[in-house]
Amino acid sequence: MGDYLIREHHPKVEMLPSGALQAAVLAMQVRNQAYALDKGRTRTYRLDVYGCQMNERDAETCAGLLEEMGFTRVTDREPADIIVFVTCCVRENAEDRIYGHIGMLAQECQENGSAILAGGCMMQQAHVVEKIRKSYPQVKVVFGTHNIHRVPELLHSWETSRKRVFEIWDEPGDAPGLLPATRTDPFRAWVVIAAGCDNYCTYCIVPHVRGRERSRPMEDVLLEIRGLAGQGFKEITLLGQNVNSYGNDLGKTDLFAALLHQIEEIDGIERVRFMTSHPKDLSDSLVSAMKECRKVCSHLHLPVQSGSSGILQRMNRKYTREQYLDLVDRIRVEMPDISLSTDLIVGFPGESEDDFEDTCDLVRRVGYDFAFMFLYSPRKGTPAAAYSDQVPADVASARFQRLLKMQTELATGKAKHLEGQVLEVLAEGHSKEDAALYAGRTSGNRLVNFTASVDPIGKIVRVRIIRAGAFWLQGEMMTGRNTTEEPWPNQN
Ligand code: SAH
Ligand code: SF4
Ligand code: F3S
Repeated sequence: MGDYLIREHHPKVEMLPSGALQAAVLAMQVRNQAYALDKGRTRTYRLDVYGCQMNERDAETCAGLLEEMGFTRVTDREPADIIVFVTCCVRENAEDRIYGHIGMLAQECQENGSAILAGGCMMQQAHVVEKIRKSYPQVKVVFGTHNIHRVPELLHSWETSRKRVFEIWDEPGDAPGLLPATRTDPFRAWVVIAAGCDNYCTYCIVPHVRGRERSRPMEDVLLEIRGLAGQGFKEITLLGQNVNSYGNDLGKTDLFAALLHQIEEIDGIERVRFMTSHPKDLSDSLVSAMKECRKVCSHLHLPVQSGSSGILQRMNRKYTREQYLDLVDRIRVEMPDISLSTDLIVGFPGESEDDFEDTCDLVRRVGYDFAFMFLYSPRKGTPAAAYSDQVPADVASARFQRLLKMQTELATGKAKHLEGQVLEVLAEGHSKEDAALYAGRTSGNRLVNFTASVDPIGKIVRVRIIRAGAFWLQGEMMTGRNTTEEPWPNQN
């Protein structure tokens, strides 16, 4: 977690449809105040977050609710009264890590009387809840992806009855749209524009644990972003499992492109990012909007998953290899310097050596700036988990290593051409590698560690790139006269 915590109160919270939420928050405040008077310290919480940005954002809501109840945040290493797990189940290794970490806390919970609250995607699965119930008594409250707003009531119920609470909603129900949040970054904020997913890729658990796609009304999204601009946020990342279909469930077409144009008008917001874009829904009007909107960063995450049309069909991705390559060409004609990233799954059921070669070939042709590669992991309840032609683990992992090596070499080569260029960087804070350096990201989403003679934090500054590796760049901030002498860079 970052060093910064920003409390945010949405005006609508005072008008929540659920009086029960207000009552539970109040009751917990009273309990926590009594505790502080008695023991001379406030009760504490810490967060353990896994998975994607959706979970990061949900964790900010959990933090907001807990602070509303009077809990104080502590870091990962400190003991806490409440430990909240926001879980992910996209691959088996994520679940294994979470069980491991919950297991390791048994003693701490016993000694300190701490309670674990477990929420998020993994808890939407009945077999997981059953295992937690039986084998992890230190978990006192279980909630899911659709009922985060119920955390105060569930926690209050546990504390007053000492009966473990398990509450999972199969569907979103009438959850309030806006809840208090404690944002973890002072300059960059996540904004959810749509929850759930309607695509049902055959390997993927997400639609099963996050529900059908539900777009937030554009006015609500804009209201939130205007509020963030007022609080000093510079960059927003719009979140949805497939942002390109934003608004389809509201009966609108091309609403995402319209949203980008609207955000362009909001003073104070300087950068806009979004994820994830499903290739099948990336329209020409979105490509135009990305090109026209100055604030939209020069980066597109466009998961391909496989380079073989046969495998793509079995994955239910609804595009072919040729259509994907054609899309990349069209994007690059409009935005030649755009940075492209992708997700790839290796070892999907039925993947032959030829299919895998097709993936390697596509990766070489596109030349991604970044690629996230995953070994296929069968997920209970998804169609692909029942396919009979699973790829043996040793074959899949040998392919994975080959692809990883190839992509790392390609990405290093691509990064090299940035050496000597001057790029715009939003300075986020001090570098994790070296506290004497500052760190930030380019428009193309590359991490830069750089020297600066004046404090650049929170500003977009120009940085000359001295050295470029596959994963991060090293540079020096341009100041004074040099700034005007440099030609304006192409934004990689
Ligand atoms: N909605 C987003 C993110 C989905 S999860 C999208 O469509 O891109 C993020 C990534 O995890 C996916 O893109 C996919 O590459 C990977 N993934 C999902 N399910 C998986 C599984 N069962 N095994 C391995 N990787 C998986
Ligand atoms: Fe999963 Fe596919 Fe939806 Fe992404 S688009 S969340 S991979 S089902
Ligand atoms: Fe994981 Fe849920 Fe995200 S399964 S990847 S945390 S939507």
